[in-house]
Amino acid sequence: MLLENKVAVIHGGGGSIGAAAARVFAREGARVFLAGRSLPRLESAAEGARRQGAEVSVDVVDAMDQEAVDRHIDDVAATAGSVDIALNAVGFDHVQGLAITDTAVDDFLFPVARYLQTNFITAKAASRHMIAQRSGVLLTISTPGARLSGRGLIGNAAQSAGLEGFSRALAGELGPDGVRVVCVRPHAMSDAVATSYTGRMFGRVAEAGGLPLSDWLDGLAGATALGRLPVLDEVAEYLAFAASDRARSMTGVIANLTAGAIVD
Ligand SMILES: NC(=O)c1ccc[n+]([C@@H]2O[C@H](COP(=O)([O-])OP(=O)(O)OC[C@H]3O[C@@H](n4cnc5c(N)ncnc54)[C@H](OP(=O)(O)O)[C@@H]3O)[C@@H](O)[C@H]2O)c1
Repeated sequence: MLLENKVAVIHGGGGSIGAAAARVFAREGARVFLAGRSLPRLESAAEGARRQGAEVSVDVVDAMDQEAVDRHIDDVAATAGSVDIALNAVGFDHVQGLAITDTAVDDFLFPVARYLQTNFITAKAASRHMIAQRSGVLLTISTPGARLSGRGLIGNAAQSAGLEGFSRALAGELGPDGVRVVCVRPHAMSDAVATSYTGRMFGRVAEAGGLPLSDWLDGLAGATALGRLPVLDEVAEYLAFAASDRARSMTGVIANLTAGAIVD
């Protein structure tokens, strides 16, 4: 198994990617700690992961609160003996699709500040233990907006490019301590819209363009090299590989999981 004896913490563990990653990490032998905001979603994610035979713990932790995240990670380390993998899968509904002239500065800054704050906080908390252990993997999640151009993307673009820059810089900082940083950049996942904030967010963009959400998603799929969008399990499988020792030379990478919407 890829993650045997590894201890994984997932912030946003009740979310769409968080729950999918929990399932795959559990199947690959990790001890999984899910942290998030809503207990029912966390419990449901934990149930899916426990069905893979793993030990899974659940805690309500505000991923925007440094003290709360530090306390939780310290508890995980004390309980399980290490923190080997820390995935931030926290997501925030935000404004997309508007022209700059129709966008308030607060709406522009909301995703930038939120995503960078939570990723800073969880990476800081986990890296204290990883530096001391001289091993560990921090996993971050960006979006294609980091590399796209066009109307309605400025907040998403600044957020995603910022997070990718943060991940690259942190990889260089923590590499000498044996800590890796891998950022994944998935395209919109077709099966996530039912549970993710993206369902609401993309729904508003589609409606403004006069399209049903399914047609709007078909349009995104049609613009990829593979003619389809990725699905949650593909992203979760990649995260498990990136977190494993098989990827131990991989750091500072932005993994392109856009199905060829963007080519490098
Ligand atoms: N879905 C996609 O197509 C897609 C594509 C590319 C990148 N991504 C990225 O993937 C990440 C996760 O997205 P997702 O689709 O899995 O979103 P999601 O299903 O909406 O899950 C996000 C999770 O974050 C939790 N959360 C929000 N604020 C929190 C806080 N302050 N403290 C703790 N947890 C908090 C939410 O809690 P509640 O359960 O209480 O709502 C939810 O469980 C985001 O970074 C997103 O940009 C997603």
